[in-house]
Amino acid sequence: MTLTGPEYRRASPDDAAALARLMSDPEVFSGLMQMPYPGVEAWRKRLEKQIEQQDGLHLLAIEQQQVIASGGIHGAGGSVRRRHVAGLGICIARERQGQGIGSEMMKRLLDWCDNWAGYLRIELNVYADNERAIALYRRFGFEMEGTHRAHALRNGVYVDTHAMARFHPNPPQVPR
Ligand SMILES: CC(C)(COP(=O)(O)OP(=O)(O)OC[C@H]1O[C@@H](n2cnc3c(N)ncnc32)[C@H](O)[C@@H]1OP(=O)(O)O)[C@@H](O)C(=O)NCCC(=O)NCCS
Repeated sequence: MTLTGPEYRRASPDDAAALARLMSDPEVFSGLMQMPYPGVEAWRKRLEKQIEQQDGLHLLAIEQQQVIASGGIHGAGGSVRRRHVAGLGICIARERQGQGIGSEMMKRLLDWCDNWAGYLRIELNVYADNERAIALYRRFGFEMEGTHRAHALRNGVYVDTHAMARFHPNPPQVPR
């Protein structure tokens, strides 16, 4: 028997229902800034907007026709002076957490950032008690920059988040 890993591909509007399903699990959305009861139509609209956005990548891991992980890079945008910055977010289905899928997703997102998009700084916020996520981000070169106190409401409690960022380890140079 040949064991193959999940397939990784860019998300499309047709993935709206699968993403709403993934994000409806408290083990998943509570680690993010998402709300309970995500809507399929809202996800479709968000995914439709992403079609035109060349400064980002929304990557899915698919196994047996199921979306088991989602990872996104989005340009910080807004200001010309923040063109070198992107935000990162990632989540894995509850039953596949702790099995290396997050690591594989990070590897692929950072390859896209470093070698194709050329972002110099990747930033994110992570709940201060999310030890697994913090361990994963540290392993990929993210460093703690500070703490936002009572940054978000999570299940009735205001919780802290850490700001983390990673700089391009080997920024491309113009050949001489
Ligand atoms: C956080 C998350 C993305 C990690 O992905 P994952 O596939 O579970 O992670 P991996 O299995 O690739 O690796 C996690 C690493 O943390 C380590 N780890 C696991 N549990 C840990 C814990 N409680 N404390 C410290 N480290 C832990 C693992 O050993 C592994 O490191 P290793 O490969 O050096 O052994 C995933 O659990 C998830 O989606 N959680 C819910 C949503 C979320 O919190 N997203 C992050 C938003 S900032």
